[in-house]
Amino acid sequence: MTVHVLDHPLVHHKMSLIRDRKTPGSLFRALVEEVGLILAVEATRELPTESVVVETPLERTGTLRLKSLDTVLVPVLRAGLGLLPSFLKLLPTAKVGHLGLYRDHDSLVPVPYYRNFPPLLEARPVFVLDPMLATGGSASEAVRQLKAAGAMNLSLVSILAAPEGLERLQGDHPDLRIIVAAVDRQLNEKGYILPGLGDAGDRLFGTA
Ligand code: PRP
Ligand code: URA
Repeated sequence: MTVHVLDHPLVHHKMSLIRDRKTPGSLFRALVEEVGLILAVEATRELPTESVVVETPLERTGTLRLKSLDTVLVPVLRAGLGLLPSFLKLLPTAKVGHLGLYRDHDSLVPVPYYRNFPPLLEARPVFVLDPMLATGGSASEAVRQLKAAGAMNLSLVSILAAPEGLERLQGDHPDLRIIVAAVDRQLNEKGYILPGLGDAGDRLFGTA
């Protein structure tokens, strides 16, 4: 498994605002989208390109384009929806699958409630979007379902990860790529990330 942690002054700055309990929901959503854009740039670094020739207004030149435009984005509902606009901005032709999972409050086990995936050809790059990787149960279940549907080239994109979740995914899906804005200290007894940012879904959608 590879884990890429963003280390950039803009990300540190925006994360300080995302973590702040006083940040209102509208700003929280905007900041998640902004960090999402930086995550999207980093997560797509290995997309294959091909050479093409174009005519500029001045002359013909060789340049590079994405080899394939059939990338798949899979936000894990609900909080993963917060990262979707950033990825669609940079990958406007991507197909979008949806996966509904919620963590049972007591057991912390993910409960699936909705699934709608586009056809997942083996070689299509699939980006699973979920801002929070806590115990790793939800991400592991999302990747399991996508592999069962045929996906082979999988990346998980998150804002915050806990060491416990990274360890779980290393065991369950050693072939996964992970791109994350920050890795925090630990989980608390209720499975929340410390120091964290609280409940991402509630802060995105005002349901706290
Ligand atoms: C949050 C988050 C992840 C999950 C992470 O979702 O968006 O999907 O918890 O926790 P885990 O790594 O321990 O599985 P939640 O279940 O709160 O649902 P929501 O997005 O609808 O709020
Ligand atoms: N889900 C969240 O939204 N926040 C956490 O800290 C853990 C899981």
